[in-house]
Amino acid sequence: MTDAPLAAATDQILMTERGAGPKPVIRTFFDEATFTASHVVHDPDTKAAAIIDSVLDYEAASGRTSYASAEKIVEYVRTEGLHVEWQLETHAHADHLSAAPWLQEQVGGKLGIGADIVTVQNVFGKIFNAGSEFARDGSQFERLFHDGDRFKVGTLDAIALHVPGHTPADMAFIIGDAAFIGDTLFMPDYGTARADFPGGDARMLFRSIHRLLKLPEQTRLFLCHDYKAPGRDTFAWETTVGAERAHNVHVHDGVTEDDFVKMRTTRDAKLSLPNLIMPSVQVNIRGGHMPEPEENGVSYIKIPINKM
Ligand SMILES: [Fe+2]
Repeated sequence: MTDAPLAAATDQILMTERGAGPKPVIRTFFDEATFTASHVVHDPDTKAAAIIDSVLDYEAASGRTSYASAEKIVEYVRTEGLHVEWQLETHAHADHLSAAPWLQEQVGGKLGIGADIVTVQNVFGKIFNAGSEFARDGSQFERLFHDGDRFKVGTLDAIALHVPGHTPADMAFIIGDAAFIGDTLFMPDYGTARADFPGGDARMLFRSIHRLLKLPEQTRLFLCHDYKAPGRDTFAWETTVGAERAHNVHVHDGVTEDDFVKMRTTRDAKLSLPNLIMPSVQVNIRGGHMPEPEENGVSYIKIPINKM
């Protein structure tokens, strides 16, 4: 069976490596509070940039937001003289709030996410009993990506691949020779993302991961999270397809789909929910915006009792 989007991504990666176009420059900002890696990728020729998976600081006890993490990105963008064309989300995150709307105010950029965000909006719209003011049509985002969609960051060619499993809407963004793969694979010594959130599916995750592992071995992979594997004391967020195929503790070459599903399901059953899942999901399905303020002008986060 042919996989045209994957073949196009492969061609693009090989062309960039051969010097047919500029190589993207990537700077990562790691948020230790949520273990999230936000990436700023730019075209050295035009200084056009994309910000991927930004973090809004949120203190659960007080319900207060702040911007120290996002300010570091703004400072970098301004120092480097970048102009931001995109704010990209690999998926609706359950462990941190997106800073995309605030970053858009500071430095601009169109907000993009996978088109299947509408599925996620429907699932969580029901769980949180959101009112009719919450549109479940993806209209909070400026661009909804489908599998194989092409876009540009300056002169850099980019392709979106649909890689569901962790959630139904996960996308990987291939920009030049670099792949930003969200919550699919983690570092080889740590493994893979969980697949037990509402709408998640371990079998689908395995298939998505295997699609990514068909990219050229030298493809640079940039991850959304790192939790330090036992025996490693620094955070890491960059690896390659070759390293994942050889060493990933969950999906190295030879691991079967059934083995993976069994391992993932057993492991997920023991994981507790992320600390910030309640605010994260409610905010991120709204494109990073807070729920509609009530008549006193204040936004509230709901907590469903005995539901999650
Ligand atoms: Fe996630």
